[in-house]
Amino acid sequence: MRRRRAKLYAFIATAFLLFIVFLHGRTEMTVAVGHSPSDDQLEAFMNRHTNSKNYTLESPFDWLDAPIRYSSEKTLTLPSAKPSTLPRVQADFPAESSKESHTREVRRKAVVDTFQKSWKSYRKSAWMKDEYKPISNEGKDNWGGWAATLIDTLDTLWIMGLEDEFREAVDAVAKINFGNCTEVNVSVFETTIRYLGGLIGAYDLSGEDVLLQQAIQVGEMLLRAFDTPNGMPIDRLDITKAKEGGGFKPDGHICIAGVGSMTMEFVRLAQITGNSKYYHAVAWITMILDYNQPYSLIPGLFPTWLNARTLSFNDSRSTTFGIGAMADSTFEYFAKTHALLGGLEPAYEKLYRDSMDQIDTHLLFRPMLPNNPDILFAGDLRIPSHADPAATILDPSMQHLSCFAGGMYALGGKLFNNAAHVALGAKLTDGCVHAYALTPSGIMPEIFESVPCASRSSCAFNETAWGEAVTAHYGPKYSFDAKKAAAEQRLPVGMTSIKDYRYMLRPEAIESVFVLYRVTGDPKYREAAWGMFEAIVDATATEGGNAAVEDVTVKRGELVDSMETFWLAETLKYFYLIFSREDLLSLDKWVFNTEAHPFRRPV
Ligand SMILES: *[C@@H]1O[C@H](CO)[C@@H](O)[C@H](O)[C@H]1NC(C)=O
Ligand SMILES: *[C@@H]1O[C@H](CO)[C@@H](O)[C@H](O)[C@H]1NC(C)=O
Ligand SMILES: *[C@@H]1O[C@H](CO)[C@@H](O)[C@H](O)[C@H]1NC(C)=O
Ligand SMILES: *[C@@H]1O[C@H](CO)[C@@H](O)[C@H](O)[C@H]1NC(C)=O
Ligand SMILES: *[C@@H]1O[C@H](CO)[C@@H](O)[C@H](O)[C@H]1NC(C)=O
Repeated sequence: MRRRRAKLYAFIATAFLLFIVFLHGRTEMTVAVGHSPSDDQLEAFMNRHTNSKNYTLESPFDWLDAPIRYSSEKTLTLPSAKPSTLPRVQADFPAESSKESHTREVRRKAVVDTFQKSWKSYRKSAWMKDEYKPISNEGKDNWGGWAATLIDTLDTLWIMGLEDEFREAVDAVAKINFGNCTEVNVSVFETTIRYLGGLIGAYDLSGEDVLLQQAIQVGEMLLRAFDTPNGMPIDRLDITKAKEGGGFKPDGHICIAGVGSMTMEFVRLAQITGNSKYYHAVAWITMILDYNQPYSLIPGLFPTWLNARTLSFNDSRSTTFGIGAMADSTFEYFAKTHALLGGLEPAYEKLYRDSMDQIDTHLLFRPMLPNNPDILFAGDLRIPSHADPAATILDPSMQHLSCFAGGMYALGGKLFNNAAHVALGAKLTDGCVHAYALTPSGIMPEIFESVPCASRSSCAFNETAWGEAVTAHYGPKYSFDAKKAAAEQRLPVGMTSIKDYRYMLRPEAIESVFVLYRVTGDPKYREAAWGMFEAIVDATATEGGNAAVEDVTVKRGELVDSMETFWLAETLKYFYLIFSREDLLSLDKWVFNTEAHPFRRPV
């Protein structure tokens, strides 16, 4: 009896060990073709928290010791009520056939292989540097010198199940000294979304305490950017001055993204640490945005530039509006912060609703393109005369950066029960997929223009009208010959000008394709993603990694010696996730910051 039981125990122990090995074994999690983990295994995989070592930070400087000059009388505190149950975001997915599973796993493995190549090169030739240079095969510091690529990539390593690589990177994080900086100033926005977001996302996944310790260091550093008389953050932080604690004067001219895009990171840091000072810094900004929203020249819509010193959102420099560069993530964060706070702060729903309605009315347009696709692009709006805000001009420039908007509308549409927004999100996403397919490389340019249709419901391609618009751009240079201009500028039919021919390894298009796949369950998005992935790899691969491309209008354009940190942090993460099981990082449990770092939603 005893011996039998001992045997049984041994059997159970072995089975348990094998199970653990399975959960941790990266072969099974990442490259097994044709075998998908069960829901329970996935859940356990995502929650495999451990503190592998007891780390102590090696940095001689502690940002908690840096003095703060201005304090506010009242602290806005993190809502403490029980989070609401928000509407479901993800579609119901049917069980996949073994053929579907096989295709998906082959594609997922291709993404991991591409990732591994870049990561190995970074590790070998650029370790602890901010970026890897994919042509000269060396490192460079351009984000403060705190190993930006390493920190931005931590959670991708974890999600891909690359456990050894993750542990090695965590060891390295413990050695980073955020008290020293290779620049005089750092961008508050970029440092927040890449470094703070990267550390928080990796901490939320792994529970590694040292990541939280360093997140607090970065959070404290960035908190000094809010140390101004009116609490408005500055755009660029002088690290030496921040350490001295003299406070700062708010910027007279700052972009809206530089003001409103720190919300998720600081809210999550407050939730994890239980310290409301991180919440206060961004809740204060939210209050100011909430108050000023009806007073902009397009009530409801925030201008791209504002005066943070006078808190003016409606003076003569606040006359341009858009959702691309300088604006994007402020709008993106309204619905996402609502989700992160479990719906407990009503301002975010109002900020979302009123701005999304105005974006729809003023910025979204159906482009006139061959075959009359029923899609949407987002442009910019200008008000030439401050005295006459009703006279607006739509600049139909579509930016690759604006491709995130499909995911923004789809996610918001789900969270706020607005089916029309999900439909807008689909048309915006289809727009970017369509734009990718228009060029010989299969990648959309950084910025291009097209003719906006007069109506969204029907729009027939008119070659004469297209030619006229091309001539309006390039007229004199080509003696008003539209065909010649289009040929020499390598314009795909329908594009009327290309303002920036590059592709910089950006994620926004695949990001929205991923979100729309999770929200609608439509397999067409997975197919679109595969086409985009193949095009991107073909156009950007170097011996060591992947490089930005000079010109997407040729099959393989000149490469630029640059591999931005978001290639590993975002672009390849979203490609990996769309070819993974739908419950890996379910959008009902996680919300991604604008650098694709997953933060845990309250449940
Ligand atoms: C870390 O420290 C705690 C208490 O100081 C100790 O109980 C634990 O075993 C240590 N963990 C490791 C992995 O060394
Ligand atoms: C790095 O910071 C420490 C204090 O945190 C300082 O003593 C040292 O001089 C700094 N080094 C450089 C190169 O700035
Ligand atoms: C740092 O930022 C401040 C404030 O924006 C600016 O005045 C200064 O010129 C910047 N210095 C450098 C070296 O970029
Ligand atoms: C500008 O906004 C402020 C609120 O910040 C408001 O009081 C003022 O009336 C607005 N001015 C115009 C011209 O809309
Ligand atoms: C096509 O565009 C041209 C130039 O704008 C216009 O004159 C013509 O009427 C349009 N054709 C149709 C069928 O709408």
